[in-house]
Amino acid sequence: MRSVITGTGIGIPKNLVPNEALTPLMDTTDEWIRTRSGIEQRYYADPGQGSAELGSIAAESALQSAGLPKEDIDAVIFATMTPDYLFPGNGPVLQERMKLPEIPTFDIRQQCSGFLYGLDLADSLIQSRKYRNILLIGAEVHTPFMPWENGWDTTIGLSTRAITAEEREINTRYRDRLVLFGDGAGAVVVQARDDGQSGFLSSRLFTNGSNIEALYVKGVGFRQRPYVDGKQLEDRDSIPRMEGREVFKQAVSRMPQAVRQVCADRGVTPADLDILLIHQANLRIVEAVAKQLALPPEKVPHNIERYANTTAGTLPILYHECLSDGRIQPGMLVCFTALGSGLHWGAVLYRV
Ligand code: UT7
Repeated sequence: MRSVITGTGIGIPKNLVPNEALTPLMDTTDEWIRTRSGIEQRYYADPGQGSAELGSIAAESALQSAGLPKEDIDAVIFATMTPDYLFPGNGPVLQERMKLPEIPTFDIRQQCSGFLYGLDLADSLIQSRKYRNILLIGAEVHTPFMPWENGWDTTIGLSTRAITAEEREINTRYRDRLVLFGDGAGAVVVQARDDGQSGFLSSRLFTNGSNIEALYVKGVGFRQRPYVDGKQLEDRDSIPRMEGREVFKQAVSRMPQAVRQVCADRGVTPADLDILLIHQANLRIVEAVAKQLALPPEKVPHNIERYANTTAGTLPILYHECLSDGRIQPGMLVCFTALGSGLHWGAVLYRV
């Protein structure tokens, strides 16, 4: 028996935010953002629009493309690091929003590797023969991380209040992260199939917690009493901290290793891949990984220029787009790879 991706969908918020819209908010330029990250624009959710909502839009369209009625879903896996509530996770929120049957919902995190972990979990649950039809979602709303108060006026046109010099100075402290993220969701349906060639071939997942501080949110955690207080907010401990160069270095070494391993598991080499889908955190990372694996640009699609980094959303959005425009065709050998906070990373090999 094989686990096969039978449907895909995406949920993108309506507010398009080009790099230029960020320049009044902090000391940055369109040129810096493009050159250092490849990002040209991103989308921001509306106020009050959470990752469960974006995820449910993606999920509805994935179910439609799979032709799977809601009553036939056996389980949901929701990957996000930006859930609507601290608890419960987005599973029950999605279940109610989509009026799904009372099926189990698994909430997983793993940040930028969330969808990759979700693929392996979906395949494993199907191979256990307990479930046949799984709905897997990767969705994020990063905008609540943004420190500005008046920035929404500039970015999504809510009004025309001016940014104060003090606010601009505060935003500039976090500019290396603020320019990198966008909101968005992708979903896939994974189903058991007893015939055909399509399906998951190999997966390798890894965790190394020796340097959690390389990318983490320090505040609002249960090691602190109370878990959130005025001091943490004053210190802006709710904004992610990132050692950008360290994460970059890990990404460009760990992802190629994982890709080589899943290929070796099946007796192929990276040159045999038709498409490599790399987590979209920085175009320079994507290009460096492709170069190490000696893959030509046409085999390594990217969409970071349009969406920025949507964390657990990036791989399903990219997969959906490549299927929709024909870059991914039935029979192709596809590899997914990601690295993110944790660190968590890995690769999944899949025959379309
Ligand atoms: O998906 C989650 C995983 N995250 C990642 O994979 C991120 C990995 N890291 C990166 O993508 C890159 O390290 C960044 C895009 C975050 C930063 O690029 P970089 O080339 O490593 O720049 P840098 O941090 O070395 O900073 C270079 C300069 C600094 O100024 P000085 O010290 O040279 O004067 C920064 O202050 O660029 C400055 N800078 C900015 N300037 C304008 C940092 N952010 C900005 C900005 N606009 N937004």
